[in-house]
Amino acid sequence: MRIAMIGSGYVGLVSGACFAQFGHDVFCVDKDADKIARLRRGEIPIYEPGLDRLVADNVRAGRLEFGTSLADAVGNADAVFIAVGTPTRRGDGYADLTYVYAAAAEIAKAITGYTVVVTKSTVPVGTGREVARIIREAQPSGQFDVASNPEFLREGAAIEDFMKPDRVVIGVESERARDVMAAIYRPLNLIQTPMVFTNIETAEITKYAGNAFLATKITFINEIADLCEKVGADVHDVARGIGLDGRIGRKFLHPGPGFGGSCFPKDTLAFAHTGREVGAAQTIVEQVIEVNNARKKKMARKVIDFCGGSVAGLTVGVLGLTFKPNTDDMRDAPSLDIVPALQAAGAKIVAFDPEGMTEAAKLLSGVTFAKTAYEAATQADVLVVITEWHEFRGLDPRRIKEAMRQPRIVDLRNIFDPEEMRGLGFSYEGVGRPRPRT
Ligand code: UDX
Repeated sequence: MRIAMIGSGYVGLVSGACFAQFGHDVFCVDKDADKIARLRRGEIPIYEPGLDRLVADNVRAGRLEFGTSLADAVGNADAVFIAVGTPTRRGDGYADLTYVYAAAAEIAKAITGYTVVVTKSTVPVGTGREVARIIREAQPSGQFDVASNPEFLREGAAIEDFMKPDRVVIGVESERARDVMAAIYRPLNLIQTPMVFTNIETAEITKYAGNAFLATKITFINEIADLCEKVGADVHDVARGIGLDGRIGRKFLHPGPGFGGSCFPKDTLAFAHTGREVGAAQTIVEQVIEVNNARKKKMARKVIDFCGGSVAGLTVGVLGLTFKPNTDDMRDAPSLDIVPALQAAGAKIVAFDPEGMTEAAKLLSGVTFAKTAYEAATQADVLVVITEWHEFRGLDPRRIKEAMRQPRIVDLRNIFDPEEMRGLGFSYEGVGRPRPRT
């Protein structure tokens, strides 16, 4: 199959490289000439484990190429994937579809023979049909079908998620388009991946419903964590106790400072907007958005309370700034609420993040960036873990304790064992875990 990928951002690049790995010929385009020049040189503009090698291997094998001309890519393609950004629109929280529709209009001009035009970007219900309308209007006799094929990629595990997905959801409405999509994903038959074929609206809703459900699950366990703190229960045991019920499942029950990232905040907002617009209000999702936003703000208060009601004049060491580990992504990261709130309360922040500091420096002011986790702990009055980078779990607590001015830790990801830390002389506070009885 010949595939054109419109948009070489996170989703486009990962999907393009993975389709090439499936054996297809993939042409990735982007308007950003600088980005394309870098990709051609083998430089990967994002941090995603394994992506550099996957791109290099497939470029070398002649299955993956990059360019700026959409027409070149679309002309010969069997399928064109739209993987451009759909940011949150200012003002109303709806997904901004400008780039999707602009791509559709350009694709319309470039189509030659029968082509399946697939939306891969996360788009609100109704977008697929609008893409079809735009193309039909520009090319009334054009041979094409539209399809919706949402991605379910987690940053940091995107390649694995693409190559070994739990399922593939495909919204198509003709046999011909279904055959093209089935051929594209054929390699996944070998690992018996369930293929869920639906109509276009269903595929669009499935993506949002999935993310909204996961965001709800996280928000639910976060509230249970607050309750556990009040009554001396341990949220980890509660999560295990409920998660072993197959109907609930153990994943996504890890409490923390609130969800962030490029997907959950944006998609829950857009989903709530759709619900209001069509008169089927998604009240649970609306609540999840509100509770999660409040939680991110509340985390600074947790640190301040732990320090006896004030952090004025204190040095706070911060471990982790990205919204989650294995990424340099700072979008909607809880640190963007926590750090400024601590600064406003008079704290001096010394932070370390393995990958996110360049990006964080653009978004946070007045922060001193440390070269290592130990350096961030040096002379700190309290250490706050915001992101659960794997390397933090391996830190030597004794060395941290010696470096700190006062051995105090607020562990917003529960990466340390409370008993062990207290045994070593730390004053320790996790999320939803029992405090020592006084
Ligand atoms: C998510 C979805 O998992 C993916 O399927 C979708 O396509 C895009 O959005 P991603 O945003 O990369 O992926 O990260 P994910 O690992 O799902 O984490 C999202 C947020 O939830 C992070 O801020 C993370 O810290 C938080 N989270 C996740 C929790 O607080 N607790 C959990 O148990 C799980």
